[in-house]
Amino acid sequence: MAYSLALMALLSTSCMRGCTSSRPPIHIIPNMDSQPKYDAQEGSDFFYDGGAMRLPVEGTVARGEFYEDEDRPLHTGRDAQGNFIANPIPVSEEVLARGAERYDIFCRPCHGESGDGQGVLFDQGVPVTSYFDERLMGLPDGEFFEVITLGKGLMTPYAYAVPVHDRWSIVAHIRRLQEDYRQRALEKQQLQQQLQQQQ
Ligand code: HEC
Repeated sequence: MAYSLALMALLSTSCMRGCTSSRPPIHIIPNMDSQPKYDAQEGSDFFYDGGAMRLPVEGTVARGEFYEDEDRPLHTGRDAQGNFIANPIPVSEEVLARGAERYDIFCRPCHGESGDGQGVLFDQGVPVTSYFDERLMGLPDGEFFEVITLGKGLMTPYAYAVPVHDRWSIVAHIRRLQEDYRQRALEKQQLQQQLQQQQ
């Protein structure tokens, strides 16, 4: 009897599914759900800049990203004066093959097989830069390297996926694509001249 009375009392005071209440639900097993902690990107009045997340200590280097000062050009594409450098790795057939393979994986979907900027994104109506634009034909190797490392405009950086040596290999491959293009353009021009002479 006492049991059923207690049960009735409980049922009459508890709210069934579907009722609305302004009070928070009863949390029987908290399981550390509520913790006095900051979430990522949360604001905080405690720090002067209003954010709870802290910047890494100045000079912090991510794992695997450390290099000596003399290797800076290899890792940034610029010399000590900040000028773009030429490809610092010796370009062998092996390097070109590696560059072509990496290019096909990471660049070709957007920039196209030949480098004319007509990959799958082009079909979706997104303009992708052609390596055969006058400006890009004259771009220093180091600037290509920097675009892969840091990204540019609509293009995201690829440093996370393409290690330094592979980035330079890709640059070497792009140079060859440009050379092929120049060669094709020259042959076309010569052919046109021959045709004109025959007429
Ligand atoms: C997801 C598509 C996409 C991929 C993959 C991609 N790019 Fe790009 N890239 C773009 C777009 C879009 C632009 C034009 C960016 C702009 O001007 O806003 C661009 C521009 C460039 C430029 C010209 C920068 C300039 O000075 O104007 C270079 C060089 C370049 N990409 C190299 C590469 C290389 C090398 C790879 C492979 C490691 C690569 N891209 C992968 C989309 C892509």
